[in-house]
Amino acid sequence: MAKCVNKENMVLPSLKEARLRRNFKTETIKYKVEDKYAHLGDGKTYYIYTYGCQGNEADSEIMAGILESVGYKHAEDPLEADVVLLNTCAVRENAEQRIWGVLGQLKGRKRNHPDMLIGICGCMPQEENATQKLIESYPFVDIIFGTHNRGNLPKLIYQAYFTKEKAVEVLSTEGNILESAPKVRESTFKAWVHIMYGCDEFCTYCIVPYTRGRERSRAKEDILAEVKELVEKGYKEITLLGQNVNAYGKDINNGEYTFGDLLRDIDKTGIERVRFTSPHPRDMDENAINAMATCKSVMPHLHFPVQSGNDRVLKIMNRKYTREEYLYKIKRLNEEIPGISITTDIIVGFPGETKEEFNDTLTLVKEAGFEGAFTFIYSKREGTPAAKMEDPISEEEKHVWFNQLKEAVDEGYLRGTQRFVGQVVEVLVDGESKSDLGMLSGYSKHNKLTHFKSDDKSLIGKIVKVKITDAKSWFMIGDLVE
Ligand code: 5AD
Ligand code: SF4
Repeated sequence: MAKCVNKENMVLPSLKEARLRRNFKTETIKYKVEDKYAHLGDGKTYYIYTYGCQGNEADSEIMAGILESVGYKHAEDPLEADVVLLNTCAVRENAEQRIWGVLGQLKGRKRNHPDMLIGICGCMPQEENATQKLIESYPFVDIIFGTHNRGNLPKLIYQAYFTKEKAVEVLSTEGNILESAPKVRESTFKAWVHIMYGCDEFCTYCIVPYTRGRERSRAKEDILAEVKELVEKGYKEITLLGQNVNAYGKDINNGEYTFGDLLRDIDKTGIERVRFTSPHPRDMDENAINAMATCKSVMPHLHFPVQSGNDRVLKIMNRKYTREEYLYKIKRLNEEIPGISITTDIIVGFPGETKEEFNDTLTLVKEAGFEGAFTFIYSKREGTPAAKMEDPISEEEKHVWFNQLKEAVDEGYLRGTQRFVGQVVEVLVDGESKSDLGMLSGYSKHNKLTHFKSDDKSLIGKIVKVKITDAKSWFMIGDLVE
């Protein structure tokens, strides 16, 4: 096991180590809490702040499960909690800026409540610079642990309580799979299911392969057992998670059982709705497209990150596909799954991108017919190859491009909702509409937020039929069909 340990016995991260892909076998570890930690949290409370992707949301559910299994109870108010964890994101700089802000607030709270334990976990501690800054400039942070160390949470809390020393444990090269950890799921009808962890793609702008480690697929038996249990408990929808979901299986079975095969087996469990995020366009093969088309439970929505519409930029991003190859997959998806809604991720202002190259992204947005996109201005991530590339375009110019892109994308959002006006759609009801009391809302099969008039809260968690009467960019409105 490669570890960087300093003189205070802290296990510190190393981006250089994290870059290596050693040829060692992934171990599946069954979570077990040691007896001496079993009552660690009796009479105490916790609160977890979660930032970033759905992967982090799922991880927070596991950390909540681990904390509750040793006696902690959830606190409604973070400032009243005995243990506060910040589950962080490192994908862009602004995500990190927010964390430093929250830490400032917690510092004030800790002055009056010195027994409060503050822990930072998730992707940010995996970066050397961030962890160094936390250790040197944030003495009130008690625990720092990375994405591979969740299972040791009780041990780290114990250490912080009883030794009063900072507990720091951030492994860079480990990549085991933690099974059977308890979970406190946010919803009683929608669930996250990790199918794989880590990423081996190394897109040149992206910090994730360093913070999340190498690709590790869960055994299909473990995934299917989890889904079956969810079906038995009455869950209606699952979202399969992974940085590159359609690389599923490559690391454990030489491609004999792939993502498409997994979708087919999951479909047989009887779960009503399956979504997944995120696939890599290069790995979206015919088997997966066919499974999406034939499995009734797989929803006709695909989040399909393209990043750029220009071949030179795609190449220096190390995306491993061309614009034409991407558009061909879009065509195949539309042929096999008529009416499918496709959304994407796009980065504006990658180092060295020219105005002409950016224009190719604008034309791609129209050609691909996206019905939504998460758009980002390139953010430099120390330690990635792109951080060393020349970046002559000013931030002002990038903002002008960004706004142009947003206009093109917004047009797609509206087209994507308007096409359902007059139709009856099936909606899994999430709860009361946040903007209009007396309305319930949920998501249609095509993942469109849908509001409808009803005060019957017993519909929450059920799938209902709604006739769409009006459509805006971000939502649809309709009437419940009896
Ligand atoms: N700058 C801007 N956007 C990024 N993403 C990942 N890394 C960066 C970065 N350095 C975006 C990509 C990815 C999404 C999750 O975040 O579009 O698909
Ligand atoms: Fe990052 Fe690329 Fe991996 Fe996605 S596929 S997590 S963008 S390196």
